[in-house]
Amino acid sequence: MHVHWSISPLADWQAEAILFFTFEDSRPLLPGFVQWLDSQPWWQAELTPLRDFKGKHQETSIYYGPRDHCIARVICVGLGPAEKFDREKLRNAAAVAVRKCRELRISHPALPLPALQGLPLDGATALREALIGAETGLYRYGALKTRNDEPDAFPETLCLLAGQEPGDDLQEALNDAQRTARGICLARDLVVAPANIVTPRFLADKARELAHQFAFQMQLIDLDAARRMGMGLFTAVAQGSREPAYMIVLEHRPRGTEEDRPLVLIGKGITFDAGGISIKPSSKMELMKHDMAGAAAILGAFQIIGEMKLARRIVGILPCTENMPDGKAYKPGDVLRSMSGVTVEVISTDAEGRLILGDALAYALDLKPCAMVDIATLTGACIVALGDRVGAVMGNEDALVAKIQEIGMQVGDRLWPLPQWDFYFDDLKSDVADFKNVGERKGGAIVAGIFLKQFVPDHVPWAHLDIAGPAWTEKDLVSAPKGATGFGVRLLVDLARRWHPTKQCG
Ligand code: BES
Ligand code: ZN
Ligand code: ZN
Repeated sequence: MHVHWSISPLADWQAEAILFFTFEDSRPLLPGFVQWLDSQPWWQAELTPLRDFKGKHQETSIYYGPRDHCIARVICVGLGPAEKFDREKLRNAAAVAVRKCRELRISHPALPLPALQGLPLDGATALREALIGAETGLYRYGALKTRNDEPDAFPETLCLLAGQEPGDDLQEALNDAQRTARGICLARDLVVAPANIVTPRFLADKARELAHQFAFQMQLIDLDAARRMGMGLFTAVAQGSREPAYMIVLEHRPRGTEEDRPLVLIGKGITFDAGGISIKPSSKMELMKHDMAGAAAILGAFQIIGEMKLARRIVGILPCTENMPDGKAYKPGDVLRSMSGVTVEVISTDAEGRLILGDALAYALDLKPCAMVDIATLTGACIVALGDRVGAVMGNEDALVAKIQEIGMQVGDRLWPLPQWDFYFDDLKSDVADFKNVGERKGGAIVAGIFLKQFVPDHVPWAHLDIAGPAWTEKDLVSAPKGATGFGVRLLVDLARRWHPTKQCG
């Protein structure tokens, strides 16, 4: 959807449809636009304005202007009660509005900025959230369909009715919204695309493309190099697959930040998780193409960070491989040596994510990070604990965990903390190695976090995000259709923008 400004005065506005949001039972809260509407003779004459419309969240009502009028329709979408308003309500309402346009095949709707004025958000924030909601709400993945039943792209444009030259803050809000939505949609595209297309090689090519576009440094560690570096966990998982595996290292190092300790983001990139020798049941196994959603979230975030030229040193580490059963595959009972030197007994080859992340964390330490954040579709247990719309956040520093949760709530990536008490490690004690990769079933998401913690020294702030649930949605949501959600992209960008470590680590 192409977004552009109109600076003509209110009275001259024209549109196939005007998008309009309102609180439940409190219409005067959006004064500018309602006043203007009320001053329109056609609105009063032709319509019974908002009489039956309650303004419940996502409730939609359409009012038609007189024939040949410059404003053909007003599409009203409810925001729910004013006391319960948050940014997500606005994003959702905007998504509902543009989807209504798609349904009605409206090509050129318009959004009057006065309609956003009564919200408890500054104008730039309101515009940004509404646009992100609209753009991500329109997302569809059609790349592999040759018989497209919905070939038309509606709406084609969105006109922002500003009534005057928009200020820099509004222009920046528009730019920010567009690049944010593009980053989220990139992650979604990578996650929905099947594993015969999105291979580790494909992710490496995508990373290289971003590196060229935004002058990121990039290093590709192939299996031989990983072996030489002692990454015995990553290479064990990779050895069962015929697809070449890569540990992708992408670095954004703008001038002046070369000496800074980087924020390191680590994303699980299992392009297909068959479970290995501990093979998964065949039912729904096709969904395991999305086991690289952590890596995809980081690529999406890097695209945004590159576009916005964020002045901060950030490294992305993406261990990418399939997890397959094969004559050469690693086996339950194998003992592996990690890059950090510790030994791990494999109980289940299906607990592969924590293995590849363990080596990635060990590798990250060499970069002297100011903090490390890993993001992974790590455990089914996390879905059992929190459902499929919320991720878990764990870590070794309460302030970092709290900040991640706070940012997540604002941007729509909901996370809830799980504990990391030391006694959980008892579950991982091994008879033959330093620890094993799986304990009992109980507390599975926490124990996976405890496994990762073994690779993190206490003085390095670290957080682990388990996104096994929210990375994928089995039903259509307002914010995303069935399939990949792009969960974590916005969170990681905002974390990079807004969080800085308080304590000196080193
Ligand atoms: N990729 C899965 C976790 C997963 C499950 C992600 C469902 C998304 C949706 C992970 O590699 C896995 O298989 N975990 C096992 C761990 C178990 C063997 C301890 C699990 O959750 O069953
Ligand atoms: Zn697995
Ligand atoms: Zn997995």
